[in-house]
Amino acid sequence: MNPFSLVGKTILVTGASSGIGRAIAICCSQMGANLVITGRNETRLLETFLLLEGTEHQQICANLTNSSELEKLIECLPKLDGIVNNAGIAKPLVLQLTEQKDVDEIMQINALVPINLTRLVLQNKKLNKGASLVFISSINGNNCAYIGSSIYAASKSALTGFMKAVALELAPRGIRANCINPGMIETNLLKSGSIGEDELEKDRLKYPLKRYGKPVEVANAAVYLLSDATQWVTGSNLLIDGGYTLQ
Ligand SMILES: NC(=O)c1ccc[n+]([C@@H]2O[C@H](COP(=O)([O-])OP(=O)(O)OC[C@H]3O[C@@H](n4cnc5c(N)ncnc54)[C@H](OP(=O)(O)O)[C@@H]3O)[C@@H](O)[C@H]2O)c1
Repeated sequence: MNPFSLVGKTILVTGASSGIGRAIAICCSQMGANLVITGRNETRLLETFLLLEGTEHQQICANLTNSSELEKLIECLPKLDGIVNNAGIAKPLVLQLTEQKDVDEIMQINALVPINLTRLVLQNKKLNKGASLVFISSINGNNCAYIGSSIYAASKSALTGFMKAVALELAPRGIRANCINPGMIETNLLKSGSIGEDELEKDRLKYPLKRYGKPVEVANAAVYLLSDATQWVTGSNLLIDGGYTLQ
C-alpha cells in the first residue's frame, strides 16, 4: 500500500510541454496515473508524451487563452480524478511601463484560464467524486512581492482566492482544491525576463538552502496533493521555497 500511488487515477496537466508541468506529468505517470497532457508547442508536448511511463496517456495541443480551443479541450476530456492547473507566464514589468495588453496576457493565462477551466469541467461533469484540483500559484503575490511583478503577483493571488472558495464549494462532493506556492524554480521561465546569469546567481544565494528549486521538487508536491494521502487536505497553500519566505 503506497499512500502516494496514483494508480487508477486520470489526471489533466496543463503547461506540460515544459518545465514544472513536464516534471509533474512524468512524476504522475511514474506513480501510475493515466495522463492527459496539454501545451501549445506540439514538438515539446510530444517530447513530454514520450517521457511518460505507461501507455494510457493522451496529448492535446491547445492555446488555452483561445476560448474555442479551451472548449474543444474540455469536450475531449475523459472523467478526471485530478487537474494540475500549471500553464502560466511571467513577464517582469514595472507598472508605469505596463500596457493593457500585458495586463490582459498575464491575467488571462495565469488566472482566467484556471478559473474557466475549473468552471467548464464542472459544468460538463468531467470530475469524478473525490477529485483533487491543484493550482500552481507562487510565493510571489501570496507570501512576498518583487519590484516589477505587480501583475504576475495579482494573477497568482487571484488564483489563491479562487482556490479557497472552490475548496469550500466542492467539499460536499469530496472534491479538494489546493495551491502550491513555489519560490524560484530552474525552468525556462527564468530566461523569459531580462535578468542575467550573474544576478540570478546572487539571487540563488538569498535562499537559505542556497539554490533555486528543481521542477521535480514541485512535481513531488503535486503528486502528494493528487494522491489519497491528502484526502483531508483542502483549501491549503503548500509552500515549496527553500526557506526563502522565512526571512
Ligand atoms: N519557474 C519558476 O520560478 C516558478 C515559480 C513559481 C511559480 N511558477 C509557475 O509555475 C508554472 C509553470 O512555470 P514554468 O517555470 O514551468 O514555465 P515554462 O517552462 O515557461 O512553462 C510554461 C508552460 O505553460 C504553457 N503555456 C503558457 N501559455 C499558454 C497558453 N496560452 N496556452 C496553453 N499553455 C500555455 C507553456 O506551453 P508552451 O511552451 O507549449 O507554449 C508551458 O508548457 C507557471 O504557472 C508559473 O507561474 C514558476
